[in-house]
Amino acid sequence: MPAFDPTALRPEFPALALAEGDRPVVFLDGPGGTQVPRRVIDAVADYYRASNANHGGAFATSVRSDAMLDEAHAAVADLVGAASPAEVTFGQNMTSLTFALSRSIARVLRPGDEVVVSRLDHEANRAPWIAAAADAGATVREVAVDRATCTLDLESLDAALSARTRLVAVGLASNATGTVNPVVEIVRRAHAAGAWAFVDAVHYAPHGPLDVAALDADFLACSAYKFFGPHVGILWGRAAILDALPAYKVRPAEDRWETGTQNHEGIAGTLAAVEYLAGVGERFGDVREGAGRRELLVAGMRAIEGHERTLSLRLLAGLPSIPGLVLHGLADPARVAERTPTFAITIGGWSPRALAEALAGEGIYAWDGDFYATTLVEDLGLAGSGGVVRVGFAHYTTAAEVDRLLVTLGSLAAARSSGR
Ligand SMILES: Cc1ncc(COP(=O)(O)O)c(C=O)c1O
Repeated sequence: MPAFDPTALRPEFPALALAEGDRPVVFLDGPGGTQVPRRVIDAVADYYRASNANHGGAFATSVRSDAMLDEAHAAVADLVGAASPAEVTFGQNMTSLTFALSRSIARVLRPGDEVVVSRLDHEANRAPWIAAAADAGATVREVAVDRATCTLDLESLDAALSARTRLVAVGLASNATGTVNPVVEIVRRAHAAGAWAFVDAVHYAPHGPLDVAALDADFLACSAYKFFGPHVGILWGRAAILDALPAYKVRPAEDRWETGTQNHEGIAGTLAAVEYLAGVGERFGDVREGAGRRELLVAGMRAIEGHERTLSLRLLAGLPSIPGLVLHGLADPARVAERTPTFAITIGGWSPRALAEALAGEGIYAWDGDFYATTLVEDLGLAGSGGVVRVGFAHYTTAAEVDRLLVTLGSLAAARSSGR
């Protein structure tokens, strides 16, 4: 099997050819949304050309559209390791799907019940559960964060859990600091307390294989635009639970969770994104001849994970020599497997927005702010100073781009520390 090579895949991503002046752009904005391969763009356009129709018609475009929708559910079931495509729901985005689910769960919560959320999570995995608890008269408990490493404090999880806990909502990885949470263990403890486990995999999805069976989760959400697809949200749930929950639906609709007409063209692009990732597995994965899509996806994501860890180690080796730079989160190279290649940084003398603007001026695109990891950024004491700058690598990031980032950060930091 050939070694993973981002330069072999980059030509498939038209946006990666964009330049600022004579320098190619370095896209480190992936945690806010990744670039897409040509086949995703083509799938969206082709849907409009040949399959554009509503659901359930007697004519060819509708039949083709429905076949694509079935295949997209099957592809996403393979991506997350679901038992059945029927457990996959598409929707507007993760936030809207999670609010829809939480509104239904609110109807089965009782006063005195408890839900557990974490202070590390994106607000999209907090607000829906806090609202559901408020609607039902239930209580919210929170899992604290160890500020030195930006990891979850599992003792505080234990303190939050009780026989009253009905649901634990946790992220697979933090979109701000890249921390990968010990979700298998968290789900085990949630189940031991008799609670459901809802896993937000939005940030993790482009960085490693998803496996709802191995996680033993009850629900998992992600978003295709974070894994090289269009702006489409995805919810997986155990069939037995989804079927039993009171869904908010209109009477004739067959599907209990997919409300209204879906973003068909976006779902066509999502299918293409999953096929792209399976193709990465075919090319660079450790797979046997005739492997199926699930096996190819796991192998592809493992290959991506290996490449991204190399990039992370390169950055972690270079950051300590940059004057005034603080990395918020796991900095220990020995713990690289506990993080995604997403790094929250601040540099003395620079506001996060000014630093992001200076990076943009050098053709390096990175986000600043709190990225809706608002509670974490508050806990870190950075809410009043503009949050952090987040640099996020994707599988299309090269070692040369990491070096360009390090050199640029080094000269920006030196400019401020020398008062220039
Ligand atoms: C970890 C995490 N969860 C949830 C969301 C919300 O996803 P969506 O934009 O699909 O609602 C994001 C988006 O940035 C995220 O990074």
